[in-house]
Amino acid sequence: IPWHATVLTLYPDAFPGVLGASIIGGAEKSGLWQLETVDIRDFAVNRHRTVDGTPAGGGAGLVLKPDVSAKAIDSVVCPDDSSTGNIRDDRPLLYMTPRGRPLTQKRVRELAAGPGLVCFCGRFEGLDERVIESRNMEEVSIGDFVLAGGEVAAQAMIEACVRLLPGVLGSADSLEEESFETGLLEYPLYTKPREFEGREIPAVLTSGDHGAVDRWRRAQMEEITKARRPDLWAAHLKRKNSPET
Ligand code: ADE
Repeated sequence: IPWHATVLTLYPDAFPGVLGASIIGGAEKSGLWQLETVDIRDFAVNRHRTVDGTPAGGGAGLVLKPDVSAKAIDSVVCPDDSSTGNIRDDRPLLYMTPRGRPLTQKRVRELAAGPGLVCFCGRFEGLDERVIESRNMEEVSIGDFVLAGGEVAAQAMIEACVRLLPGVLGSADSLEEESFETGLLEYPLYTKPREFEGREIPAVLTSGDHGAVDRWRRAQMEEITKARRPDLWAAHLKRKNSPET
């Protein structure tokens, strides 16, 4: 069975979205991974199909009802049950929220190496805390900014995982060379023509001296990382000085 993403959402129309396009979408068509959406509203209990309520204690916005959310989750991640023949779903259950632990390439690698993921997309102000606790949800943020809902965050996370699956992207070296694998940001890229709007490709890149090209690229990576991401640069220096940690 291929790597399998199940997304719980109030907006199933937002899927596959970008996950249906290009290499990632093609890889699903070739059976290298699988995407499924579950409409949270299908688990509403009253005749108005209400999914949200006002926050206890007051305040702005609305909160996803715990009974509806839990039923939606349990329809996917069902417990072991020998009487129904249900088998345990051992995929991690993630909740996309700006309050979550920031997503890293390390976590993406782990998720891609496993059986897949189940991902809950919030809207409104959020999900009732008791569901997060009882279903042991892993809260994940894709960055320090606030989206209108978890759908775009889920697509970003799933795309990051799927591109690492065997057979999805071209070569393993192109993956190993990238930022967050080397710990440095990438060097600048150029292609023909040699001159564009008065700007030339750096001469070293057309010199044919591969050693000089490698040294130039490395220097660029370091300079760009120092300037834009002092946090990554500090971590890189620390690693260089104590490589076994
Ligand atoms: N939902 C809204 N904003 C988000 C973010 N930054 N990361 C993950 N999920 C979100």
